[in-house]
Amino acid sequence: MYRLETKIDTKSKEYIENFNNYKQLIDQFNLRLKEVRHGTTNAVEKHRDRGKLLTRERIDLLIDPNTPFLEFSSLAAYGMYNNSFPGAGIVTGIGLIHGQESVIIANDATVKGGTYAKETIKKHVRAQQIALENHLPTVYMVDSGGAFLPEQANVFPDRFDFGRFFYNQAQMSAQGIPQISIVMGSCTAGGAYVPAMSDETIIVRNQGTIFIGGPPLVKAATGEVVSAEELGGAVVHTTVSGVADHLAENDSHAVQICRNIFESMPKKEKHLLYISPIEEPMYDSEELYGIAPIDLKKPVDSREIIMRIVDGSKFHEFKASYAPTLVTGFARIMGFPIGIIANNGVLFSETSLKGAHFIELCTSRKIPILFLQNITGFIVGKQYEHKGIARDGAKLVHAVANANVPKFTVVFGGSFGAGNYAMAGRAYDPRLLLMWPASKISVMGGEQAADVLVTVKKDQLAAKGKDFPKEEENKLRENILNKYEEEGSAYYSTARMWDDGIIDPKDTRKILAMGIAMSLNKQWPEQKNGVFRM
Ligand code: COA
Repeated sequence: MYRLETKIDTKSKEYIENFNNYKQLIDQFNLRLKEVRHGTTNAVEKHRDRGKLLTRERIDLLIDPNTPFLEFSSLAAYGMYNNSFPGAGIVTGIGLIHGQESVIIANDATVKGGTYAKETIKKHVRAQQIALENHLPTVYMVDSGGAFLPEQANVFPDRFDFGRFFYNQAQMSAQGIPQISIVMGSCTAGGAYVPAMSDETIIVRNQGTIFIGGPPLVKAATGEVVSAEELGGAVVHTTVSGVADHLAENDSHAVQICRNIFESMPKKEKHLLYISPIEEPMYDSEELYGIAPIDLKKPVDSREIIMRIVDGSKFHEFKASYAPTLVTGFARIMGFPIGIIANNGVLFSETSLKGAHFIELCTSRKIPILFLQNITGFIVGKQYEHKGIARDGAKLVHAVANANVPKFTVVFGGSFGAGNYAMAGRAYDPRLLLMWPASKISVMGGEQAADVLVTVKKDQLAAKGKDFPKEEENKLRENILNKYEEEGSAYYSTARMWDDGIIDPKDTRKILAMGIAMSLNKQWPEQKNGVFRM
């Protein structure tokens, strides 16, 4: 494979300015991550006084020493509920337990008693979906008061609400995915089914409780007066009811029992992927700060991004001189083969055909695909409609939707309109979807949306023989621009889990490698179609 050579002058004013500005965005991102590490100071003190470890301390103990934890959606619910749900009150991610990639779903009891708001539910269900798609054993570290009751309408009744946890647990179990619960605190009402539906359950003495109805509810319903410990404490469940299997003395002991369970589990055959020796890129990944778009109007050659992510900066480009607004080619990331599809401008008919052809190559060769998104959308205009842009774009969308290899999407710039679909946006089920901090996502750019709405309004009024006064036009324009600015930001997206998290650009390579490694836990299905030139 050829090495890509940079055209960036790292001494240029433009590069240095971008680098410094991006560095500030990274500082802001890190600060925000720090803010959401747990709930209020009072809640943390109360938690510690009870002899409990904090959520991330529990996870650190559970995963193999000196191995990374790939956390999902750390900034879920950011800027929502007056910021009273840091991280949406739950930590999810992937870590190694006795060498096995595993999903960890851990309540944070320092955030509103570990209760579930809409985003907490979404984060829990998304982690289970990742476990299902990649066949990953799952550990639930339970410490939760169940539904956040004031939000009941948003957490209880719908298809992907609270009930989905247990449906997923049944589905995962039927597929042979091991699930272990560690009850380290409250586990109330519907939440009681989390340990009850797990393969094995550990419960901590004087801390863990499991009951369908807590003492106040029991008193109200039957008049029976009973303490939480007597009703459903650790001793009751390990000696009387049998709802839990292992009694632990404290958090650390419980985690050790869980690790012992993993140690005794048989190892599975992984999907076979030819892996080469790892080579670091030729260029420093921090240089991405000088290149990554902040002002999305500024074009960026996506090869400059690719060469700072892939092994040895080596790239075998496919159709290099044809349809240049889409860069396609093969490379390796930490030794894993990868097909890369990256935007270098808007999507035309021929670009779509090139992308669809390339996806066929990846699926027939069983190579995972990375979509590097910086896309304003498909080309518009009479000339292009007449040539059939809708038909050709549809071919790319078909190929992306049906590609039976793991897909990974990184939004490094803009993600707008149907370009989002063609480049494996959330609706196309990439195994992971990650955003860089300055990236943006919306149905179209704010200026375009403002233009469309002003035109619609003007046409409506003109039909009635009226004018649209200039100051009203300006007001409408400004409202739309402000709205799109706010709603298009990566933080707005990640708060609502339209992605799996914002990442520091320099971690992209490492995170993608973890993503590919996790995807090898499930055999990839066969692709039915052959390769046909478009
Ligand atoms: N819905 C909404 N808020 C809840 C809640 C619930 N189910 N359970 C707890 N909270 C809130 C509390 O109001 C408090 O909020 P604040 O920090 O704004 O004051 C915070 O969570 C912590 O609760 P607190 O009781 O002070 O903490 P704790 O650690 O002593 O106890 C629980 C935590 C979860 C064991 C306890 O609050 C409890 O039993 N809650 C009710 C659980 C329940 O019956 N759930 C039914 C769900 S279907």
